[in-house]
Amino acid sequence: MIVLGIESSCDETAAAVVEDGTNILSSVVSSQVEIHHAYGGVVPELASRKHIENIAPVVNEAIKKSGKKKEDIHVVAATQGPGLIGSLLVGFSFAKGYAWSMDIPFVGINHLEAHINSAFLCDDPPSFPFVALLASGGHTSVYHVTSYTSYELMGQTRDDAAGEAYDKVSKMLGLGYPGGEVIDKLAKEGDPDSIKFTRPYLDKNAFDFSFSGIKTAVNRYIKTHPEYKIQTADIAAGFQEAVVDVLSFKVIRAALQKECRHITIVGGVAANKRLRAKVRSEAAEKNLTVHIPPIDLCGDNAAMIAATGYHYLEKGYRTDMDADVYSRVKL
Ligand code: KG4
Ligand code: ZN
Repeated sequence: MIVLGIESSCDETAAAVVEDGTNILSSVVSSQVEIHHAYGGVVPELASRKHIENIAPVVNEAIKKSGKKKEDIHVVAATQGPGLIGSLLVGFSFAKGYAWSMDIPFVGINHLEAHINSAFLCDDPPSFPFVALLASGGHTSVYHVTSYTSYELMGQTRDDAAGEAYDKVSKMLGLGYPGGEVIDKLAKEGDPDSIKFTRPYLDKNAFDFSFSGIKTAVNRYIKTHPEYKIQTADIAAGFQEAVVDVLSFKVIRAALQKECRHITIVGGVAANKRLRAKVRSEAAEKNLTVHIPPIDLCGDNAAMIAATGYHYLEKGYRTDMDADVYSRVKL
């Protein structure tokens, strides 16, 4: 079954063509980072306008690159939420119109669920049940996943998301938006042990997170150390080590508690080199296997939307043409 996926929940306009939920025939992502960089964060109104300009060319490019014709597509899946309403509306409405004009089924997809399903786009996908750490710009949660469409939320952030903390610390250090990749690179030049930032494990037996304390500790360090500019690599490394320690500790502990042998980390922060390495080495010590999507499928993309659409369609699920987008949702 050939699924066309469409994603426009934030600042990426993306389209992908995926066969049978795993075989990516094409995946096109048009990023608006350049536009929002100047403002230090995503400007919702600018994002939705840019999606309107991008959506048709991005979808056409994805279909062209897939080697398929429009008539070969069996289903259209698009992100329904959570995300920025104006941005979501562009991709979701385009997808509805596309499905209606081609007379094919349409499926609205939860963006968070799609991130979790990006684990099945790895070369070595996990088997059920597994524990998933979803760490992105808007969410940081741990799930116990028992099927393509069933999840139990084990814990989540009580304040900032991990990606949000990266973005805020990057701003404090004058490194711009978005911050994850920049800090990831800079941290390699620093010493992770020279400045020790707080690690809020909260209850060590529970799986909630808190990242605003780490961010505040970095801010306090900057304010009290006028010479901090010559230490930015050490600050980046120390901050990153604190975040990565907490994330890897919690996901491994969650897997042990649920007696799951498989772990996945997904979402934009899963692109982080240190997080990938740390979770892999700690999991190996406990005989757990780790499945992490390739870096280009950690951030927002439409291949994960198409893959999730496939599993819902398999279950006979369809979304009504009068369905609306949603900005927030529990998963
Ligand atoms: O999943 P995503 O692309 O969008 C959301 O759904 O939020 O995640 C974006 C977040 C941003 O906060 C960005 O700074 C972070 O992921 N990120 C990273 C890295 N690459 C992106 N964080 C840490 N290390 C990275 N290499
Ligand atoms: Zn995302």
